[in-house]
Amino acid sequence: MIEINLTDKHVLITGASRGIGAACAKSFAAAGAILYLNGRDSDKLNALCAELSEEYGVNCHALPFDVSKADDVKQGFQQLFKLTKKLDVLVNNAGILDDALVGMVTPQQVENTFATNTHSVIYCSQYAARLMQRSGGGSIVNVASIIGRVGNVGQAVYGGSKAAVIGITLSLSKELAATNVRVNAVAPGFIDTDMTKQLTPEKYQERVNSIAMGRVGTASNVADTVLFLASDLSVYVTGQVIGVDGGMLI
Ligand code: NAI
Repeated sequence: MIEINLTDKHVLITGASRGIGAACAKSFAAAGAILYLNGRDSDKLNALCAELSEEYGVNCHALPFDVSKADDVKQGFQQLFKLTKKLDVLVNNAGILDDALVGMVTPQQVENTFATNTHSVIYCSQYAARLMQRSGGGSIVNVASIIGRVGNVGQAVYGGSKAAVIGITLSLSKELAATNVRVNAVAPGFIDTDMTKQLTPEKYQERVNSIAMGRVGTASNVADTVLFLASDLSVYVTGQVIGVDGGMLI
C-alpha cells in the first residue's frame, strides 16, 4: 500500500463541514496535514477539528467565511495569514446545487450558484497562489463535476458553473506552473452526500442506473483522488481533470 505523508503541509479545504469536504479533511488528517477547515458554521467546524485532532493528533483550525463573497474571502485569508505564513494545498470544494429547467431559472439562482461554485475558486486561488509562491509552490485542487463536462437536463446553471471551474483550472495551471503551483480538478459523478439526497427517489435511481460500476460513489472515493492530486505522487501533474464517477454515462 502506498502511504501518503503530508506531515507539516498546511492545507485549506473549503466547504469542509460535511460531505466531500469533510471526507477530504479526514483523509488529509490521516496523512498528518495541518488543517484549516472552511465553511460557514463555526460550531460545526470546531467540532470536526476537535474530532480530527483527537483521532489523528493533528493541528486543525476552523476558518469560517462565506466563499461566495469576495470581501469575506479576503478577510478569511487575512485570518489565515495571521495563523500561518505558509500554504501548501488548497481544496476548492464548497459548492451548491440548485436545479431548474430552462424558463424557470431566476437571476438569484444564477448569481448564488456562480458566486459559490465559480467566483469562489478564482478568489480563493489567487490569495492561495500568493502564499504558495512564497514557499516554493503548492497544489490547488478544484472540485468540478461530471455535469460541467457533459451537461444534464435542468442543470444549465450548475453545469455552467462547473464547466467554468474546469476553464479556470486549465488557465491557472498554465499561469502558475512556472512558480511550481500545480492546479488540477476532480470531476465527481454521483456521490452519496447530503447534496444528492435532494433528489427524488426516481431521479436517484435513474442516476445510479447510469453508472457503469453499478453503484453510487462515496465521499471518501473523491477524497482519495484529491489527496493524490495534493501530494507529491502527482508532482508532475498539472492542468488535468480527473473523473471520479465509476464510469458514469449521463
Ligand atoms: P454538500 O452540500 O454535502 O457540502 C457542501 C459544502 O459546501 C457544505 O459544507 C456547505 O456548508 C459548504 N458551502 C456551501 N456554500 C458555501 C459558502 N458560500 N461558503 C462556505 N461554504 C459553503 O455537498 P457535497 O456533495 O459534499 O459537494 C461538495 C462539492 O462536490 C461541491 O462543489 C459539489 O458541487 C461537488 N460535487 C458533488 C457531487 C455529488 O454527487 N455529491 C457530484 C459532483 C460534484
